[in-house]
Amino acid sequence: MEGNFGRPGHGPARGDARPLYGQRALVTGSSSGIGRAIARALAEAGADVALNYTRGEAAAEAAAAEFRDLGVRAVTVKADVSREDEVEAMFAHTITAFGTLDILVNNAGLQQDAPVETMTLEQWNRVIGVNLTGQFLCARAAVREFKRRGPRPEVSRALGKIICVSSVHEIIPWAGHVNYAASKGGVMLMMKTLAQELAADRIRVVGIAPGAIRTPINREAWETPEAYASLLKLVPYKRIGEPEDIAAAAAWLASDAADYITGTTLFVDGGMTLYPGFESGG
Ligand code: BGC
Repeated sequence: MEGNFGRPGHGPARGDARPLYGQRALVTGSSSGIGRAIARALAEAGADVALNYTRGEAAAEAAAAEFRDLGVRAVTVKADVSREDEVEAMFAHTITAFGTLDILVNNAGLQQDAPVETMTLEQWNRVIGVNLTGQFLCARAAVREFKRRGPRPEVSRALGKIICVSSVHEIIPWAGHVNYAASKGGVMLMMKTLAQELAADRIRVVGIAPGAIRTPINREAWETPEAYASLLKLVPYKRIGEPEDIAAAAAWLASDAADYITGTTLFVDGGMTLYPGFESGG
């Protein structure tokens, strides 16, 4: 059963290599970076994909065209996930296009860094608004749709799946980034609480905590040889992560192979959470 994440006798009838065949997914913040790679992995696994973006319409459209070549449906939808009205419109648009939704990937996130004494309330609110409130608004809308639609055992054992993209900073404090670290710590307990609340409905809620991944958000940390060498001091595996490292984890977590996994975070971080300062000494 090469390439089949699912258990024989369950899941999609078609194609071992397409364990998400027939499922419909929405990936927030997917015009670039980790979100785009996740959307592609879900499409490669056979899911129809809605790509959400705020800026970067052309990039989202280009990704959608690329995914259609894989034989799935792909649509783009502009929405700021921190805004309730825009989230509601995004779900209405996606559900109209695809009929329903099986997988939500809460990926949209941003950084607005500053030392605490100069951080503005606007910077605090913006980061909490997108990274945490945005995940809440999207999760709520997804749960409503999963329950409205009911089970689809022909495509998935779960009623629905929600993947919350967090960060190693859901547990690693990060000086100079208090808004970001607080938002990701919040995502972690939101994810676990929703998992507990929704398990009996057969809705799985899981987290992925990326470490340092090569995307525009942390360009400063990898674009010069000096910065890269300094970054690697924090990464026991001694390479930066690529968006595809996160995407593979997301496609697996969304599949029936991970059907007994809920309420936990999968760290995809090359060991960043292993206290690399203790590689020697202590
Ligand atoms: C941040 C990156 C950072 C990484 C590891 C991520 O959540 O967005 O800027 O490089 O964590 O510290």
